Amino acid sequence: MTELTPQVDKTPGRIRQMFGEIAPWYDFLNHFLSLNIDQRWRRRVVRLTAPELRPGRPILDVCTGTGDLALAYHRHCGAAVPIVACDFCHPMLVRAAQKALNRGAVIPWVEADAQRLPFSVNTFQLVTVAFGLRNISDPDLGIAEMVRVLQPGGRLAILEFATPRMPLLRRVYLAYLRYILPLIGQCLARNRHAAYRYLPESVLQFPEYDALLERLRRQGLVEERYVPLSGGIAVLYLARKPAVSAAHVQLPSQADAAPVQSCSTICSDVYH
Ligand SMILES: C[S@@+](CC[C@H](N)C(=O)[O-])C[C@H]1O[C@@H](n2cnc3c(N)ncnc32)[C@H](O)[C@@H]1O
Repeated sequence: MTELTPQVDKTPGRIRQMFGEIAPWYDFLNHFLSLNIDQRWRRRVVRLTAPELRPGRPILDVCTGTGDLALAYHRHCGAAVPIVACDFCHPMLVRAAQKALNRGAVIPWVEADAQRLPFSVNTFQLVTVAFGLRNISDPDLGIAEMVRVLQPGGRLAILEFATPRMPLLRRVYLAYLRYILPLIGQCLARNRHAAYRYLPESVLQFPEYDALLERLRRQGLVEERYVPLSGGIAVLYLARKPAVSAAHVQLPSQADAAPVQSCSTICSDVYH
């Protein structure tokens, strides 16, 4: 089985600083390097998950960064579904908050570590994470925290890069990922942490498809499946927290932990 033990340096301090350094360039490079397909992927996540959303019940976007997925939900659902978003990188959240202000979206942007979410057990009907799980130092702990704050019967949606399985597309994509993307990314968003060299390394080392589904099953999630996007360059993983927790499911020790204290919120405080 693929281990999630990171070989690239994913210490929280390094990751936080790295995203802090590229925050001014993050949106531009995301859209430029993906030919704006990243926005289409986020809209797809919203379209696939929104039909089941119940009005008035909150959803959480973890590792929200500059908030594009949270804002996509806001665009789709309006005020009917309260959205909370969190990330541990302050400069990314400042940009998210500015974008929300421009669009008239009221979203609490909570500064917190995904490995110690400052929310109570069984709070959210949907927890999402887009291109974030791969960056968490201990992704298993991150998933456990997301499961903890999910309501019974609630869903987890993970959008993450993968490698296409079709041989030709795979070859072209890997060449782009390994050589072209780091060159352009590092040139434009100069940063001390080689963020755009870290990106391909972290993608290539992260479990994908069935290996990631297996990690979700081990956290007690059910109905797990994946939806390849754009030939498998990105993959949406979906799973559900059982409505009644199965006796055999051994959730990690943090699963019942009380909400965490050390976090700040750019808007209002909620769901603590
Ligand atoms: C590649 S960005 C993705 C941002 C956004 N979700 C998107 O779709 O563009 C990854 C984000 O994960 C955040 N992140 C990484 N590890 C984290 C952790 N342990 N706790 C909270 N945020 C984390 C980073 O600060 C960064 O903003």
